[in-house]
Amino acid sequence: MKTRYTPIDKNLFIKNRRKFVQRMAPQSIAIFNSNDIYPISADSTLPFQQHRDIFYLSGIDQEESVLVLCPCAYHEEHREMLFVRETNEHIAIWEGEKYTKEQATEVSGIKNVYWLQDLERILDRVIPQIDNIYININEHYRAEKVVETREDRFIKKLQKNYRGHTYLRSNPILQHLRSIKEPEEIDIMQKACDITEKGFRKILSFVKPGVWEYEIEAEFLYEFIRNRSKGCAYTPIIASGKNSNVLHYILNNKECKDGEVLLLDVGAEYANYSSDMTRTIPVNGKFSARQREVYQAVMNVKNESAKLLVTGNNWYDYHEEVGKIMTEELLKLGLLTTDEVKNENPEFPAYKKYFMHGNSHYLGLDTHDYGILTEPFVPNMVFTVEPGIYIPEEGFGIRIEDNVVIQPNGEPYNLMRNIPIEIEEIEDLMNSK
Ligand code: GLY
Ligand code: MN
Ligand code: MN
Repeated sequence: MKTRYTPIDKNLFIKNRRKFVQRMAPQSIAIFNSNDIYPISADSTLPFQQHRDIFYLSGIDQEESVLVLCPCAYHEEHREMLFVRETNEHIAIWEGEKYTKEQATEVSGIKNVYWLQDLERILDRVIPQIDNIYININEHYRAEKVVETREDRFIKKLQKNYRGHTYLRSNPILQHLRSIKEPEEIDIMQKACDITEKGFRKILSFVKPGVWEYEIEAEFLYEFIRNRSKGCAYTPIIASGKNSNVLHYILNNKECKDGEVLLLDVGAEYANYSSDMTRTIPVNGKFSARQREVYQAVMNVKNESAKLLVTGNNWYDYHEEVGKIMTEELLKLGLLTTDEVKNENPEFPAYKKYFMHGNSHYLGLDTHDYGILTEPFVPNMVFTVEPGIYIPEEGFGIRIEDNVVIQPNGEPYNLMRNIPIEIEEIEDLMNSK
């Protein structure tokens, strides 16, 4: 089975399953489904995106796959099972290669692979042996819950068939496990950041007055895809001029003009892992004095706040401190007055007028990755650091975003350490041919 990305060592998935199983209650089974291939209209569909939980636990990157973990099952062959779509000549002609049972084992390290049509029959044998069923509901604090997923449909059916069992939640376990990365995962995320770097270096010599935002998006995509990425990890933001103040600007349809800044929030995915970069550059290759000043203030916040991403701190306390650092910079820029700060509403501090989003989020298989916000930071958690100052009255905003790994001691390790960020470096690269 050929994926675009280099195959991942199956030991990662074996380790991930072992960690999950260790946290399961006795007498339990846990079941994980793939995503649907989402329809558009007529017979069109969106490209398949594997559900990140089944990927995390198996490496299986194919639709209609189901993972079942039941460590206490009586029969050894029921303790860890994978169900995949049975392929045939018709599927081979129209869709190409799908996993054979042997390939599914090779990818996941799971010995017992069955065709999907055997799922119900085998569950009917195993579930009566146990008391608890772990179901996988998305509990991310920002999760979009409008669309019924394949997992949701599966859970409905399960709860109809097994009314006497106790249902438990997989999500808190996964939120905890997925927030702490294995070294193999950090290597993959480094690769995603390196691909993003290639894209950014490419556009530095491409951007000049008169280019269009979508042309810049195309340059990034070209570089990402030719480096084995499926493309962007999230919808890219290519925002020139006043668009740089629109936090989720994704139209990318404007001409970049002399004197404007260009805010680029663009990251490559690699092997389903995200990178999440923001850089802000001058369209004409030279920041104005005021743009420089604001840029340097954002850099100061980034550098100072990154020092707080250390073991033992936590997301809420960290954000309190970041607020103070940002407030200082906004005072220096003359955007806030000491009176405004003194009289601020603690529920909505003064700095939020110019910096209205979070400074960090977990990063991993999802761009806004799983992670329990009340847990203290521990080594190998990966976060973004992404301060911004947005000044609509001056017609521009600046954000800078890096991806860092919490270390056992001291400052975090920057996965984007090689991506140009200093004012002089950016200006030099933009002006060298
Ligand atoms: N690109 C999405 C974010 O920065 O959170
Ligand atoms: Mn971003
Ligand atoms: Mn981000």
